[in-house]
Amino acid sequence: MGRVDGKVAIVTGAASGMGKADAQLLANEGAKVVVADLNETDGQAVADAIGHNALFLRLDVTDESNWKSVVEQTVASFGGLDILVNNAGLLMLGTVVDTQLSAFRKIQAVNSEGVFLGCKHAIPVMEKNGGGSIVNMSSVAALSGVSFALAYAASKGAVTALTKSIAMYCKEQKNGIRCNSIHPDGVKTPMVVKVATGKDTATQEEIDEIGRSANMCEPAEIANLVLYLASDESSFVNGAQMVIDNAATITPPVGI
Ligand SMILES: NC(=O)c1ccc[n+]([C@@H]2O[C@H](COP(=O)([O-])OP(=O)(O)OC[C@H]3O[C@@H](n4cnc5c(N)ncnc54)[C@H](O)[C@@H]3O)[C@@H](O)[C@H]2O)c1
Repeated sequence: MGRVDGKVAIVTGAASGMGKADAQLLANEGAKVVVADLNETDGQAVADAIGHNALFLRLDVTDESNWKSVVEQTVASFGGLDILVNNAGLLMLGTVVDTQLSAFRKIQAVNSEGVFLGCKHAIPVMEKNGGGSIVNMSSVAALSGVSFALAYAASKGAVTALTKSIAMYCKEQKNGIRCNSIHPDGVKTPMVVKVATGKDTATQEEIDEIGRSANMCEPAEIANLVLYLASDESSFVNGAQMVIDNAATITPPVGI
């Protein structure tokens, strides 16, 4: 028996990094998985590698009609929806004075509005199944703020508050749906390498090198937490902000 046997999951941003690891682990543990991403080539490759329990669907998380159709196609293909992992995200550097309004809005659209839209369209379908689990990808940036990534930190702060508001709503509705957020520190994925190098692509060697030097964790270590929250093992965990950072946020600065 897998830990999410027979469940149906949508994972956004599943063509790369943590979303890819989440999709692979959920499928290994018995779920049918929709690999949802803007990146069709890499997303299809992830679904193909998983096999018959996975389906790639192109999704732009900022597009509401796209969300409606992905949820509909998930139900049509796999018979329901039990798990939504809102993982897709963009990182952009910039302080309060050098961030353009258009860039600020773009980051909110993907990282925050995309999560809102996913929850909005998944919840009615999950309710029909008698419940479900939503896992929203936030960041330690939501907890501390980041002077040089203002738009990103603000978007992840919004995800944190959205998550708690949805958890409370679902509890009030007694609809059996739980909603939690995950707050990693550095994870070895293309996202951090692209920002560190300023390039559009990242090789596995670059990911390993930068990840090692900054003491980052593996995407699979985050996926283990996603699996726990997605499974019935976390049946009383609702509205939690799960920090997964090897004590980074509680370690005082050197010298104190
Ligand atoms: N890597 C880290 O250190 C770190 C730390 C904390 C939180 N996070 C968060 O984890 C999540 C995954 O990040 P990652 O590091 O795996 O990044 P990644 O760049 O490897 O993967 C992000 C995926 O999101 C997809 N995506 C981007 N915009 C999209 C859109 N509009 N619609 C659909 N898909 C879209 C990309 O195509 C990509 O496949 C993000 O929300 C990120 O903010 C990352």
